[in-house]
Amino acid sequence: MILIIDFGSQYNQLIARRVRESKVYCRIAPPTISIEAIKEIRPEGVILSGGPSSIYEKTSPKADPAIFELGVPILGICYGMHFMIDALGGTVKGAGKREYGFAELHIKDREGLFKGLEDNASCWMSHGDSIDSTEHLPPGIHVTASTDNTEAAAVAFKEKKMYGVQFHPEVEHTPQGKAVIDNFLFDICGCEPSWSMKSFAEEAVAEIRDTVKDGKVILGLSGGVDSSVAALLIHKAIGDQLTCIFVDNGLLRLDEAKKMKANFKSRLNMNIRFVKAEKRFLSALKGVVDPEKKRKIIGKTFIDVFEEEARRIKGVEFLAQGTLYPDIIESVSTFGGPSVVIKSHHNVGGLPRRMKLKVVEPLKYLFKDEVRRLGVELGLHEDLVQRQPFPGPGLAVRIIGDITARRLNVLKQADAVLLEEIRAGGYYRKLWQSFAVLLPLKSVGIMGDKRTYENVVAIRAVTSRDAMTADWARLPHKLLGIISNRIINEVKGVNRVVYDISSKPPSTIEWE
Ligand code: XMP
Repeated sequence: MILIIDFGSQYNQLIARRVRESKVYCRIAPPTISIEAIKEIRPEGVILSGGPSSIYEKTSPKADPAIFELGVPILGICYGMHFMIDALGGTVKGAGKREYGFAELHIKDREGLFKGLEDNASCWMSHGDSIDSTEHLPPGIHVTASTDNTEAAAVAFKEKKMYGVQFHPEVEHTPQGKAVIDNFLFDICGCEPSWSMKSFAEEAVAEIRDTVKDGKVILGLSGGVDSSVAALLIHKAIGDQLTCIFVDNGLLRLDEAKKMKANFKSRLNMNIRFVKAEKRFLSALKGVVDPEKKRKIIGKTFIDVFEEEARRIKGVEFLAQGTLYPDIIESVSTFGGPSVVIKSHHNVGGLPRRMKLKVVEPLKYLFKDEVRRLGVELGLHEDLVQRQPFPGPGLAVRIIGDITARRLNVLKQADAVLLEEIRAGGYYRKLWQSFAVLLPLKSVGIMGDKRTYENVVAIRAVTSRDAMTADWARLPHKLLGIISNRIINEVKGVNRVVYDISSKPPSTIEWE
């Protein structure tokens, strides 16, 4: 396993991705990790990430320099290299000008990190400081590559298997970056490319058994990929010691609860309790139009319902959650503090403490696409694995204004038609999300010979990589036409369909 010390670079998750894509397991730790903890992990190599700070700032993050005494190969990237050189007695200087963007890498030493690389290929630079190679470098260290602006674009301390690069090998803009990382992993650290979802599943199953022993575990199944995969993995490990609780809040898509029952109870034979709570949610939401209030009410009602159901199962010791890696490392990277809350996502983080349960989070070191692959490995239905994201508060944030059983029904029907056509057109997987929104206004129409005064449905379809930014999808007019026709003809109470052509930012993906 490779340990990545996170100095706060916006790219640190990318480093982890690259390492894992090369089938080597890795974890990210904050610079405050102790030497004892590192020794316990026994990494085969350490990568020191970049970061926004300058090594001379008082508040810049520092790791314990004893890390350089461990005898483990080290790769310092940008700030990580500055930290290494500074700790080894070299000089880091503020560059006259910041270097940002593409640069040509002139390789001087092709042994080690740059083995097999083409010369003068481009690499991605983003830095203020650099290593001063004009005065002196610490003994044993020499420059292995430079760019037109940076003499020491890469350095090596071969005897100790320590390497530094000023550029970012982890980003796509450095075409030979993968080769650099692979050289570090395989040639320098001697790792084996053996990490796969199969091996992950085997280890996770053993770990769950070891933690849970003969205890009982509960898990809130939402129908999303994360909780489904977590449930399957835990079920594989401990069978019926796991009870899943599926809260039907009435805000789910058409037939969702039915489909979940068919999949998890009938097909996978899992121990699930279905709680019908639509009435309770709808009465708590009655008359509420403010999106944040809706979210808070739904979050609180969920916790109440879940807790009541969980208390009916005697002797529960553990609560399992489908927490993913980005959820737990996000806080490490933001040295600048938490960002502004745009939408408070439905959060049940306080649940374990309130119920005095221990937490089991078997996916906490995985990225989303890895969870999907794990789902496939565990035999989860393809349709479930490849699902578009669905927000915790469900259709409540897609019904603008007051939520009633009638309006919910209209939206469910419209949404089902939309998804059917998106699938039939082959667009479901190409889109990040596609859904219908019920607007709080009526418009005049004509149907047969009669004047109608009915609801307006908006269609939202976006492409995105990570939901942070999104673009409206250029769906073919023909497909939009079919969707509009079918919704207006088949869904009673709708006489107009509009297509949302706004991107994020400045809009958000959901309407509320
Ligand atoms: P926005 O609307 O903020 O959404 O652009 C970004 C992504 O987050 C989902 N989303 C939510 N997910 N609880 C969730 O679990 C929420 O309250 C929530 N609000 C938005 C949204 O569907 C999109 O994928």
